[in-house]
Formats: sequence, C-alpha cells, structure tokens
Amino acid sequence: MYLGLDLGTSGLKGLLMDGDQNIIGSASAPLDVTRSHSGWSEQDPAHWISACETVFDALRGSHPAELAAVTGIGLSGQMHGATLLDKGHTVLRPCMLWNDTRAHEQAARLDADPRFRQISGNIVFPGFTAPKVEWVRENEPSIFAKTALILLPKDYLRLWLTGNAVSDMSDAAGTSWLDVERRDWSDELLSATHLTQGHMPALAEGSDETGTLRAELATRWGMKQAVVAGGAGDNAASAMGLGTIEGGSAFVSLGTSGVLFASNARYSPKPESAVHAFCHAVPDTWHQMGVFLSATDSLNWWAGVTDKDAAALTAALDEKPGAPENTIFLPYLAGERTPHNDAAIRGAFIGLDHAYDQAAMTRAVLQGVAFAMADSRDALADAGTELTRVMAVGGGTRSAHWLQTMANTLNLPLDLPAEGDFGAAFGAARLGLLAQEGKGADAASICMPPTISRSFEPDAALTDAYGEAHGRYKALYQALKS
Ligand code: XUL
Repeated sequence: MYLGLDLGTSGLKGLLMDGDQNIIGSASAPLDVTRSHSGWSEQDPAHWISACETVFDALRGSHPAELAAVTGIGLSGQMHGATLLDKGHTVLRPCMLWNDTRAHEQAARLDADPRFRQISGNIVFPGFTAPKVEWVRENEPSIFAKTALILLPKDYLRLWLTGNAVSDMSDAAGTSWLDVERRDWSDELLSATHLTQGHMPALAEGSDETGTLRAELATRWGMKQAVVAGGAGDNAASAMGLGTIEGGSAFVSLGTSGVLFASNARYSPKPESAVHAFCHAVPDTWHQMGVFLSATDSLNWWAGVTDKDAAALTAALDEKPGAPENTIFLPYLAGERTPHNDAAIRGAFIGLDHAYDQAAMTRAVLQGVAFAMADSRDALADAGTELTRVMAVGGGTRSAHWLQTMANTLNLPLDLPAEGDFGAAFGAARLGLLAQEGKGADAASICMPPTISRSFEPDAALTDAYGEAHGRYKALYQALKS
C-alpha cells in the first residue's frame, strides 16, 4: 500500500493506492491563504502540519488496515514557497507562497544578473524562492539573520514526517538557486543572494528514498516506518500521475494556477519566452511549462463576487460553448508569469453591455482563463515545443463547458482521464512506490497513462473566431500595460 500527500494551496490531500495502483481511499483538509496586501499571499506552515494530522486521522478512521500496510509515501506540493527556519528548525515567519509577487523589484534585480537565466534556465520570477528571501533580507533583516534553513512547502512537511531536510529536483528547480541542467545547487547563485549550501536542504531525485516516517508518528497512526520518496513539485507530480514522462507528452492543469506542462527528453531552457524549464521527477528528464497565476482562482474570485458556488455558476452553462463572448476578461488578479512576467498588471472585464447577465460574465471568466492558456501554448511553441493533444487535470475539469472552450481556444484536442483521481496526490503515491521498489524500478512502465473517458475536439466552425478573440485579448494586455 502507498500514500500520496499533496500539499496544495487550497487544501492538503492524502490518497491511498494499493500495489496494483487502485485508489483505495482519500481524505483532505482545507487551507486558507492570507492576502494582507495586494500581491501578498501567505500561509502559516503550522497549518500544513495540522492539515496533515487531520488527513492522517481521517485515513486512520476510514482505512485503518490499509494505512497500517503503507510501505511507501510520496510528497507533492505547491512550489516556490519560502519557509524560513532558524537553527532549531523553528519557523521564523509565514511562508510567502508561489503567487506572492511582492518581491518583484528583487526578482528584476536578480534577473538582470545574466548568471541566473544561464544557470537556472529560467527568468527569476517574483514568485520564485530566491527573490522572496532577498525581500526578507531587505525588509526583515533580523529574520534573515536568524535564517538557517530554507525549505519549500512539501519539504517542510517532510522535515516533520521524517526529521530530514531534503528537497527533490523538480521542486528545487523553482527556487532560482538550482543548476537545472546539472541537477545541483549553484554556489554562484546562492552567494549572489548572500546564502550558502548550508542554508539548503540535501537534494534527491523524486523517486529516491529520503528517509522513513518517524517512529512517534508511525505509532500514533498505527503505521509502519514507511519509506518517504523525494516526491515532486505539484505539476511534475501530476505528470507522474498522468504518465506524462516521455518527450512530447503534455497536459493542462486547471487548478488554483493554470499550467500547460510538456515533458522533454532533454533540458530545453528558453527563459526569454517566460516558459519554465525544470527538472522532472525522475532522473535524466526535464520538462517545460507555461504557468499563469489565476485559473480556478479567477472562477473562485467571481463566485465570491456573485456570492455563488463556483460549481453552481459553471453548471448553469451549456455544455457546448458558442462563439466567443464580446466581453474579454483578463485573469491577472495577482499579476502574471507566462508570458508577461508582470507582477503589477491586474485583471479586467472589457466590453460590457446591457445584455450581459451573470452567465455571460461566467463564460467570459472561463474564456479569459482559456486565453491565458493559449498564451502559454504560444510560449511553449516559441520554446520549441509544438503540441498535438493534451490531457486535462485539476478541479476546473469538472466543467465540460470550460474544457470545450479550452479545446476551441487552444485548437487542440483535450483528453479527460476516466473517473478517478490522476492528480498530484496519485503521482506522489506512484513516487512512493518507485522509492520503495528501489533504483531498478522502471518509472515509465509503472507510470502508465490513464484510460481516457472523454475527448474534447476543437469545434472547427469556431476555432477561427476563438483565434481572433485571442488576438483581441493579447492586444488588451498591451493596452493595459502601457
Ligand atoms: C508552478 C506554480 C504553481 C504552484 C501552485 O510554477 O507556481 O503551479 O506550484 O500549484
């Protein structure tokens, strides 16, 4: 039996998987984000631990025998967060999350140093870890002075679960401190931010063993001292769940953030396209992705404004979208990464008229997110990756209207996995299995793609109209920017 733990932005999920990769059960606990200023986004790491305890308690209640049989645990999590610890491993301040853009000045300064793009293979985005720690150094010097260890969110969970400070390559690639081609910390980049390898956790591949469950926790939940795998950043973990490992395979993720993810046989950086080029979760593999900050977050924002449930808003729409709306929604609620790298830009509705009702506005929000995904498709093409079809995962895939809008806008067929949960927690469980099997295990044969339940083909009669509307969306960004 294997356990995948995914520390998402809106909740922590635990999923039990048996040796034949059947999903046996799952439990989750919600998490809140604190936004005390525009562009800030924080969580208290203590809440991750209590969410983890809630999930283990729930699984112990619902599946005690299966939990007791777990031999491998895999971790996945929201990337880029800066969890600062002192030398006794006490948390020094709330974690600044991946969608916290306050460090835009620090990011621009580091990005202007050519070594960052050259060695890390990526733009230094404000949401990445290094500029956030620079922000702390400049604005909270006493906290920086006490900082002895910097961990990504899921690695803080690992520290609590195993006692070991370790990160995996895919997550470490999003810090701006990793030499992504060599898969090792860069002394040069660390010292450019007044740090050394002493501040960093050890590194492991996602499928490597990084320790075992602490005896005290194992006893508490009636478990074995299971092996804990390196795990992965949430997108690379989803890729493991979907079997997206071979070069050319790809998926879209409609979670809090929106992601277009493509696996690459080789390291393929192209920072100027704002595409992320990171290590994958298994040795000698890499991936590219376009990331935008507010996908289901845009829908949830609109649900909050209208005081409606997001699912009720999308359920009110026809399954088959018609021509694109005249109103354009820009989903830049917290600034944007791919393709703009613009922390200051904010969202907009443009082109409203009297005929507009709530459903039309909801359609415009979903369409705006699809345009942002099309921007990532274009950025990936610019970085040498042309896609022919993609799978779709994440909470947003519950809306057939959204998936069809996405297929029309991307002009790509979208494949929806059969009923089941092939997201990051499942991918993490697979990494737990790989770690427990040891170095000889064959990731590609263990991580097979899921059965597809439904495919969304682009509607040939509408793709030109969607392409033209995407052009208007891009022009609006340019107009708003200036
Ligand atoms: C990836 C990214 C997000 C987070 C949150 O670069 O920032 O996808 O991992 O899910």
